Amino acid sequence: MIELLNSKHKRADFDCGKDLLNNYLKTQASQDVKRKLAACFILAEPKSNLIQGFYTLSNYSIPLHHFPEYIQKKLPPSYTSIPISLVGRLAIDNKFQGKGLGKILLIDALKRCLEASIVMGSFAVVVDPIDSEASIFYEQFGFISLPDSSKMFIAMKTIKELFK
Ligand SMILES: CC(C)(COP(=O)(O)OP(=O)(O)OC[C@H]1O[C@@H](n2cnc3c(N)ncnc32)[C@H](O)[C@@H]1OP(=O)(O)O)[C@@H](O)C(=O)NCCC(=O)NCCS
Repeated sequence: MIELLNSKHKRADFDCGKDLLNNYLKTQASQDVKRKLAACFILAEPKSNLIQGFYTLSNYSIPLHHFPEYIQKKLPPSYTSIPISLVGRLAIDNKFQGKGLGKILLIDALKRCLEASIVMGSFAVVVDPIDSEASIFYEQFGFISLPDSSKMFIAMKTIKELFK
């Protein structure tokens, strides 16, 4: 079940192999949620509340000139900053990696971003891969690197096509 982070979720046991992401979930996620800086979605085992994975979503913007030229040409130059949806973090616990759960979480995140874009403009979903392996993971789903940045994006129009 994928649900918003709550106090029943066992955050202390989470280990995806990346300290930065583990510590985020353990020490910062609930603060970010309280401050409305991020929404944090948890995939947990229903009875034990053991966290299998999580991701965060936030509103964000990217300067127009950070997008590849072919995208810039399609957008009005008066929009110097482009509204996007940020999947700030996404991780699966070591015990559950390689079972398709990362894919399930990413698809869930993309679906939520697409739904949100109906009521609040968002040109793309952007991710911030933690390392080159994570970039390869996102590449498989059609994410494209933003030049001069470690971030990657997929246009909302493309996501809409995926869910048709
Ligand atoms: C990257 C991560 C989210 C993938 O989750 P997962 O549940 O292990 O991945 P899945 O089992 O859903 O795999 C989905 C696809 O991605 C591929 N994949 C999985 N992990 C991968 C990796 N590290 N590098 C490249 N491809 C990967 C799988 O082969 C699979 O492809 P297929 O559908 O063609 O079989 C997970 O390994 C993780 O949390 N890693 C540590 C944190 C991290 O790197 N987060 C990324 C965002 S910063």
